[in-house]
Amino acid sequence: MAPATATSTIELTGVGRTYTRGKKTVQALTGVDLTIRQGEFITLFGPSGCGKSTLLRLIAGLDTQTTGDISVFGTTPKQASGRKDIAWIPQSSALLPWLDIKRNASLSSVINKRADRSGATTRKPEDAVDILNEIGLADFLESRPEQLSGGMRQRASIARGFAQGAPLMLMDEPFSALDELTRDTLRLRLLELWDRHKKTIVFVTHSAQEAVLLSDRVVVMSPRPGRIRQVVDIDFPRPRSWELVETPEFVAKVAEVKQILWSAWEGDE
Ligand SMILES: Nc1ncnc2c1ncn2[C@@H]1O[C@H](COP(=O)(O)OP(=O)(O)O)[C@@H](O)[C@H]1O
Ligand SMILES: [Mg+2]
Repeated sequence: MAPATATSTIELTGVGRTYTRGKKTVQALTGVDLTIRQGEFITLFGPSGCGKSTLLRLIAGLDTQTTGDISVFGTTPKQASGRKDIAWIPQSSALLPWLDIKRNASLSSVINKRADRSGATTRKPEDAVDILNEIGLADFLESRPEQLSGGMRQRASIARGFAQGAPLMLMDEPFSALDELTRDTLRLRLLELWDRHKKTIVFVTHSAQEAVLLSDRVVVMSPRPGRIRQVVDIDFPRPRSWELVETPEFVAKVAEVKQILWSAWEGDE
């Protein structure tokens, strides 16, 4: 295993995951080598079924790889999760319907519950109300989830993730269930929060534009079995804005990332 450097957050070496159901075996991931740096915004990009969610669950310690090693802040993912170092933000908000937005955002996610029981609290949660204000929900603190739009519920879910105070945030297609205008706004809000709170974010998407807009690096994955095709550096200056999206350089970068994906498929046939 490659030695972890002072700035590396996550080290994956030769990571693979095979699922077995009866006689059928699915190789979801194979040979994944990746180093994720402290404070970076990195995105796993690829079509449905290429193993993005599998890889994210392995990093979260929600599942265990069948081959290879994963180190999160120098320990196993499960240990990192037990220390409350990892926040998980799902595709659709998993808010509790009987609690208002403020109480929902103050809750730790299920992933950290084990740590609560053992009393091993090393992370100080951030103020949920501050984060709800930052994400634009100041006027809805007392509202229950059913009273909000899908976009607002997902904002609350993201606020809850930030409020946990975990240095590493894992986000599995958090905007995919939202309409386009809501998605556009939330992408930029997320970048503001990431910048202010200095998190490491591993983000999953099947949108090339979203990947390029948000990320420092885009990990392009290919299917059957899922593996890393190429890691693309995205050097556009920050803070990023919608003006950037209109530039020829941005459009070219999105095309480049898509081209890597397509060439992966062609090479597959
Ligand atoms: N729990 C599971 N049992 C069996 N097969 C699974 C399981 N989870 C994922 N897979 C398979 O692994 C592959 C990768 O799935 P997934 O990681 O969900 O891809 P993605 O998130 O990129 O769409 C798919 O072929 C999927 O059917
Ligand atoms: Mg998925």
